[in-house]
Amino acid sequence: MKSLFMTTVAALAFGTAAASAQTVGFAQIGSESGWRAAETTITRQQADERGIDLKFSDAQQKQENQIAAIRSFIAQGVDAILLAPVVATGWDSVLEEAKDAEIPVVLLDRQVDSDDDLYLTAVGSDLVHEGEVAGQWLVDAVDGKDCRVVELQGTTGSSPAIDRKTGFENAIKGHDNIEIIRSQTGDFTRAQGKEVMESFLQAENGGKDICALYAHNDDMAVGAIQAIKEAGLKPGEDILVVSIDAVPDIFQAMANGEANATVELTPNMAGPAFDALKTYWDSGEAPEKFIQTESKLYTASDDPKGQYEARKGLGY
Ligand code: AHR
Repeated sequence: MKSLFMTTVAALAFGTAAASAQTVGFAQIGSESGWRAAETTITRQQADERGIDLKFSDAQQKQENQIAAIRSFIAQGVDAILLAPVVATGWDSVLEEAKDAEIPVVLLDRQVDSDDDLYLTAVGSDLVHEGEVAGQWLVDAVDGKDCRVVELQGTTGSSPAIDRKTGFENAIKGHDNIEIIRSQTGDFTRAQGKEVMESFLQAENGGKDICALYAHNDDMAVGAIQAIKEAGLKPGEDILVVSIDAVPDIFQAMANGEANATVELTPNMAGPAFDALKTYWDSGEAPEKFIQTESKLYTASDDPKGQYEARKGLGY
């Protein structure tokens, strides 16, 4: 009896030790936006809560740095790799190397063009749908009136830049009153959002010929809001502002009457990713290829002050 008890205790102790010994490499893009910084914070928190040893790499927005980080994680023999891919193409070789080393890769928040048997699963939102939600908001807001839109795109070649553009265009298709007159990348950063918006304003009669801004993320919208104010116009009124992410600063802008709508992207991609990995490690059961997060629309009438406060503690 005693030896059975000892064996059970030993097995439990081993199980606990084995569970706490898991090492995961995180090939993060960088810290281009408030949303990205929150995703990093939350991933660290989620790893800590689960006793996972997280090895973190910041690629400074460069794909070659992400590829080097993945190769280093493979060499270290990690138990899994999280990858937030800066662009959609060019991952086949390194993902094959991870597969050959039997290290599962989970994609976070962005997609790749590679075969889906090269990664275990992808956690993220339906990026086309996000653009559709933003576009539909504008269709409803202008209610048939003519509206010339400027678009700030995300990082060129990234899946959110491609898909959010497609989604918005889907939503305005058939609404001849709405036209995208200018579209350029702001690389998902506040500084470039401001700079590109300044050039849009200059080119469009000081902004008087612009009805709305669609930004692929809130940070670019916040930069653009500053540019609109400096041009002597009122963002949120003279130029409508719709964007994506739902970071605290866009709610602050909404509370000030300077932004109109945002589509939420949760920065907690790591929670579902670690849950899927645990099931896979424990039982070998592979998760669905796509674990989808919600895309909820928030407008200036959704208590922006309260939304700001609620998010402040959540990794932002
Ligand atoms: O991939 C998600 C996008 O990347 C977020 O919308 C943006 O803020 C970030 O940089």
